[in-house]
Amino acid sequence: MSAAQAPLPPLAQRERSATTAAARRSGEPVAVQLRDVRKSFGDKTILGGVDLTIHRGEFVVLLGPSGTGKTTLLRLLTGLERPDAGEIRVPRQRTVVYQEPRLIPSKRVLGNVVVGQRRSASVRTAGARALEEVGLAGKHKDWPATLSGGEAQRVALARALVREPQLLLLDEPFAALDALTRLQMQDLVGDLVARHRPAVLLVTHDVDEAVRLADRVLILNEGSFAVDVDIDLARPRDRNDPEALRYRAAFLAELGVGRTADDAHHPGRSTP
Ligand SMILES: Nc1ncnc2c1ncn2[C@@H]1O[C@H](COP(=O)(O)OP(=O)(O)O)[C@@H](O)[C@H]1O
Ligand SMILES: [Mg+2]
Repeated sequence: MSAAQAPLPPLAQRERSATTAAARRSGEPVAVQLRDVRKSFGDKTILGGVDLTIHRGEFVVLLGPSGTGKTTLLRLLTGLERPDAGEIRVPRQRTVVYQEPRLIPSKRVLGNVVVGQRRSASVRTAGARALEEVGLAGKHKDWPATLSGGEAQRVALARALVREPQLLLLDEPFAALDALTRLQMQDLVGDLVARHRPAVLLVTHDVDEAVRLADRVLILNEGSFAVDVDIDLARPRDRNDPEALRYRAAFLAELGVGRTADDAHHPGRSTP
């Protein structure tokens, strides 16, 4: 667990300094803006007045244990949930990919990709192109039930992509996949996002996934962002790069994992 003992980047600082990532993003239009957004369920405060700005092309990962309000924040951005107070501005074109692919069993793969769109040759062509982009060019006519978990999730990605979203929301999209498929899907999403450049908010509890994909990591804790930090690492990223390991260790520490001497004796706890 040498990584946990490495010096940590200053994650706890809430004001981000003028880093290279911040400079990159400053030229891009704002895609998402939250101002003093509040949301409670009963006496539990999920968001206690948060501000958040996400620019076009920015890949933001919201990291945190379950029950902290990650999905609630996503639902506020989709419009499925309304805030108690505050202001939320999002682009009209936004799509969500969930942990489960949510395919319609009675529609073939291409039908699922273009579901809800008008029936036209151009829509079908766009659907076919999206399937190609996710590596499923030969699967147009397959039924959802015949797909592997990874393939089904690729269809869900194609369905999101074909709508050319300005905001792509991903709620633990790889959590149900085996480890190898998860890595492949992370690379695929990284490539697709680099090509299409939507603003992205990806929710995960996987620290490695955050370090692999994010331009910026948020950690939600008790109603506010305890961490909001840029990941200034070149791409493609090497998970064993010392800088990547420093981010990883810092996030795990922030999440309360691998922080104490006792944890060091239980290395399994800090390698989720
Ligand atoms: N519609 C709801 N009504 C009441 N409580 C809710 C509702 N949605 C979520 N919660 C509660 O809000 C908290 C955060 O939930 P959620 O956003 O799903 O967390 P996460 O996605 O981080 O696991 C949990 O305690 C959950 O039980
Ligand atoms: Mg959730």
